[in-house]
Amino acid sequence: MAEKKAFVAGHPIAHSRSPKIHGHWLAKYGIEGSYRAIDVAPAEFAAFLASLGENGFRGGNVTIPHKEAAFAGVARRDHAADEIGAVNTLWFEDGVLWGGNTDGYGFAANLDDHAPGWAANGPAVVLGAGGASRAVIHALKERGIKDIRVVNRTLARAQELARHFGAAITAHGAGAVGELLADAGLLINTTSLGMHGDATLSADPAGLPDHAIVTDLVYVPLETPLLAAARTRGLKTVDGLGMLLHQAVPGFERWFGRKPEVTPELRRLIVADIEGQ
Ligand code: ATR
Repeated sequence: MAEKKAFVAGHPIAHSRSPKIHGHWLAKYGIEGSYRAIDVAPAEFAAFLASLGENGFRGGNVTIPHKEAAFAGVARRDHAADEIGAVNTLWFEDGVLWGGNTDGYGFAANLDDHAPGWAANGPAVVLGAGGASRAVIHALKERGIKDIRVVNRTLARAQELARHFGAAITAHGAGAVGELLADAGLLINTTSLGMHGDATLSADPAGLPDHAIVTDLVYVPLETPLLAAARTRGLKTVDGLGMLLHQAVPGFERWFGRKPEVTPELRRLIVADIEGQ
């Protein structure tokens, strides 16, 4: 049988860790397949999508800046993609190109892995109202959390998400964080602040109850300032690397026909890559 081919398309794409993740699984399971990074400029994305079938791809991932263009460009979408408004995974089914979004799945699976029972820990405070926040809110809703407080520097963006996702979601400006944390069971950072150490929107885990779980989507560094502060406070923390690993699972299964496992070995491989950069 011909080699099964998949890809990740982005711009730039050189630093994507997805080829390492999928390459590890292909080798581990002895699958005759390939997964490669392709740099696609925004102006060429529509043509790239249109040529996938003739180029022999079973599907692939799309990342920044193509997630919205992929959302608009596929023939069919799954429920998560529709809710989140972006597509990160493509595959062919019944002869047409489908787009899905596995970011919310990856977020929830990471917490299932490292903080089982987390979904009983509402209310949730979500820092940020961008694309990553949408995936997290979708996952929180799906897992039955009824009180989701979205806090953002730009209040209007949080309000837009509250309108889109419905009654379980409330919108707040940065000044409200302290008050919102006092009875929260989950704190999730979806902004890039951990990377830059910028404190325009800061949440102090000291104000959380003892049973709270704190997680950060940022995974470089693995322990962000937020997670370090939460650990010092004695709270359960979950880093963001597992979300990256788990979001890759559904795509691999669709293209290569086997549900792969997120193992400590895979995690070590990607940690070494992060630390070596
Ligand atoms: P992503 O897809 O990673 O979520 P995004 O859509 O650009 O990226 O969203 C970035 C998020 O980080 C937003 O919530 C943004 O706040 P604004 O909506 O107010 O821009 C937040 N963010 C980025 N830099 C920030 C900063 N310096 N201070 C506070 N919030 C910041």
